[in-house]
Parts: sequence; C-alpha cells; structure tokens
Amino acid sequence: MRVTIPQLQERARAGEKLVMLTCYDASFAAISDEAGVDMLLIGDSLGMVIQGHDTTLPVTMGEAEYHVRCVARGARRALIIADMPFGSFQQSSEVAFHNAARLMAAGAQMVKMEGGAVMAKTTAFLVERGIPVCAHIGLTPQSVHALGGYRVQGKDDDAAQRLISDARALEAAGASIVLMEAMPAALAKRVTEALHVPTIGIGAGVDCDGQVLVLHDVLGLYGEFKPKFAKRYADIGAAVVGALRDFDREVRDGSFPTDEHSFTMKESELLSLQRSLAQQKAS
Ligand code: KIV
Repeated sequence: MRVTIPQLQERARAGEKLVMLTCYDASFAAISDEAGVDMLLIGDSLGMVIQGHDTTLPVTMGEAEYHVRCVARGARRALIIADMPFGSFQQSSEVAFHNAARLMAAGAQMVKMEGGAVMAKTTAFLVERGIPVCAHIGLTPQSVHALGGYRVQGKDDDAAQRLISDARALEAAGASIVLMEAMPAALAKRVTEALHVPTIGIGAGVDCDGQVLVLHDVLGLYGEFKPKFAKRYADIGAAVVGALRDFDREVRDGSFPTDEHSFTMKESELLSLQRSLAQQKAS
C-alpha cells in the first residue's frame, strides 16, 4: 500500500520521524522501498549526480519526467515526489500547473518547488487543482548564482524572520510538507514548531519532523561535492571500483567466463552441428 500524505502528517504529529531519500531509477526505488523509506524524491540533484553537471539548472522537464517514470515503476510503497526543474514553474501559475501535471501523469504523487513566499500563489493554484506540493526553502540550489554559492541561509535576524514567514506563507497556501535546506538547526526548530505540516530537513538539524539525503551521498557514489550535512552510510563507490577491477583482470587473464557462465552443448548436438556445417560448406 502506498504511503499517503495524511498518514505522513499523522505520523509527524505523533512524533514519529519521517524518512525521505532522493531516487532516480527503478532499481534503487525498489531497494529503497524494501528498506522502508517513506518518500522518494526525484530531485533535480539528478543534474549533478546522474548527468554530471556542476549545478541542478540544466535539468529539463523531459528528463525529470523520464526519471519519475523510472522510479514509479520500481516503488510500490513510498510516496513519490517530483522536483520541478528550474524554469518549469517560476513564470506563472498556469505554466507551473501544466508542468506539474506532466510529472503527476508520469507517476508522482506530489511535486516540490523551490522558493519562499513568492511561490505561495503558485502553490495555492496547484493545491486547489489537486496537486499536492512540497515547499523548499532555505538554500534553494536553483538560485545558486543569486545566492552567491551553496551557503547556509537564515544566519542573521532578518533572514531568519524571512524564512519563518516564507514557511508560514507556504503552509497557508496549502503546502503539505516544508523542506528546509542548509539552515541553522535552531531556526529550523523554530520553523517546525511554527507549522502544522511536517518539515523535512537537509542540513537543518535534528528537530525537523524528518530528514532527506541525496542517495549518492548516502552510498558514497558521488565524490565531486561533499556538503557538511551529507552522511555517508556505505562506500559503494569503492566496492564498485573493486568489482570492476576484478572483472577487468579476469577478462584479461582468461579466467572469466568459465563453463559456469557459458552455454554448453551435448556431444550429440555438437556432432550434428559439425555435420550440418560440413554439408553447408560442401554444397
Ligand atoms: O534535488 C534534490 O535532491 C533536493 C534535495 C537536496 C532536497 O532538492
């Protein structure tokens, strides 16, 4: 049974922590489901960890849709949240609805939009038309150039107050979840206490209602950029290098494939094949 938004909200109210993880394909979606992850976010971080860009900005709607479809085929249980790519929702509420509807049709159950109170009108527009929204405040990577880099947000009083009113405005507009990225833990705690909907943190301390991390950071699959808040739970990258070196060596020294990985023929089948080849050659 698919995790629902009311269930997540109820569990957060009961003090249970919520778990979100980014995901981009069917295999990892199935594995994440098996691990019990509540929400899978097809983040536009795919632009960096899958596509190799320096930022999330180049990700297109078509690419986001493709990855949502892949994840939706692999996940039966987790709630699927699709990130709206840069440029797909900022222009107008109508454009945002059109693109959000494409992601919902691809298999998402919620969309995520970066931005503070400025996105409240569009959030309400989508929510009123049946599209659940996860808001994303604090460090919003699509604004990396405007922010002057990947910096912690809300460090002074004014900025902290702005983030609290952003969160309130987005909740009032109907956001089901407020995700906070790279904010002081004490500020994220205040936002969490100020809201009725669950908060999910990434670099926002332990007092959020739940946490999200990028899959490739969790598994040690991405070495380009290591944010302070990312915790590596396994070094799969090193395990992959080891496995590929073994494969490389065995191919080169002839120890792979063995009979175990080859298709063999019975003596009689071999004789009959040899006979028919000889006949073909003779005719
Ligand atoms: O794109 C993404 O993966 C995200 C998470 C870092 C929250 O927005």
